Amino acid sequence: MFVVAGSASRKLAADVATGLDATLVTPDVRSFPDGEVYSRVHEDGLEGEDVVVVQTTLGNDRYMELLLLLDAVRAQGANRVCAVVPYYSYSRQDQRFLTGEALSARVVAKTIAVDADALVTVDPHKDHILEMFPGTAAGPSAVPELAAYFAGAGVDLVLAPDKGARDRAQHAASLMGVPFDHLEKTRLSGDKVVMKTKDLDVAGRTVAIIDDIISTGGTMATATKQLQDQGATAVLCAATHGLFTGGAVKRLLDAGVKQVVATDTIEGTPSLVSAAPSVCRGVRQVLELEGHLKA
Ligand code: R5P
Repeated sequence: MFVVAGSASRKLAADVATGLDATLVTPDVRSFPDGEVYSRVHEDGLEGEDVVVVQTTLGNDRYMELLLLLDAVRAQGANRVCAVVPYYSYSRQDQRFLTGEALSARVVAKTIAVDADALVTVDPHKDHILEMFPGTAAGPSAVPELAAYFAGAGVDLVLAPDKGARDRAQHAASLMGVPFDHLEKTRLSGDKVVMKTKDLDVAGRTVAIIDDIISTGGTMATATKQLQDQGATAVLCAATHGLFTGGAVKRLLDAGVKQVVATDTIEGTPSLVSAAPSVCRGVRQVLELEGHLKA
C-alpha cells in the first residue's frame, strides 16, 4: 500500500503511512504564476496497488490539489484509490437551508468520487455527509484521542456546546469516566453566538467542552464565559478540527480558556493531538469493506 502526502497533510500522512505499514510518497506540488495548482506523483510502482491520498481541504487550493493528486494516482493504474480528507471543507452546508442554495458538502463528495473509490474523513460535521459519497465511506472519530489527551487533567464534566454535538461529548465523557451535558447555542452571525443559561453544577469544577470544529472561537468563548459566571474553576476546549480563523486562539485565551486543543486534521498550532490513529481505523474499515484487508 502507498500513502501519498498532500502538501496540507505531510506530517499526518507520514504518521498514517507508519500506522498502515505503507510506503510514503511525497508528490511535487507547485503553483503556476497565475496561482493555479500543479502536482505530480512521481513514483513507479503504483500500478495495481492500493493508494491512499491524504490531503486536508481547508482552502480551495488544497481542495483542488486533492483532486489533482487523485487524478494522478488513478492515471498511474492504482488498484483502489482511497481519499483521506482529514478535514472535509464545505461540510457545514450539508443541506439546502434556503431555496436556491448549493449543497456544497455533496458537491465536494461528487468531485472526490471522480477518481476515488473510497473516502475517509475524520469526525464529519454530520454523518449523512458520508452517504453523499457514492463509494465506500468512513467517518472515524478522533474523540478517543482527544479524551486520552485529557487523561490526568482532572476533568470533572464534559460539555457539548449544543445539542448537535452531544453524542461526541457523551463519547468523550464515557471514555473519561465523567458525566456529560450540553449547552444551548444559537448562532446570530458568522462569529457571534448566544448561549441560553443552563443550570449546571460546574462551581469549583474543571469542565472540558468538546466540539467538532473551532472556527472563530465564538462558540467556545461564549460557553467559557457562561461557565465561569457559574463558578467553573477551569475550562478546557477541544475540537477535532482547529480552523482558528481571525485570531481565534487569542480570543479563547483572552476569554479565560485554560487550554485549547485540536488534532492535526489541520496542521498548525495548536494541533497537539495526532489524528493518525483515527485515520488508520477509517482506512482499515473502508478497505475491509472493500474486501482488501482481512479483519
Ligand atoms: C457548528 O455547527 C460547528 O459544530 C462548530 O460549533 C462551529 O463551527 C464553531 O464555530 P465558531 O468557532 O466560529 O463558533
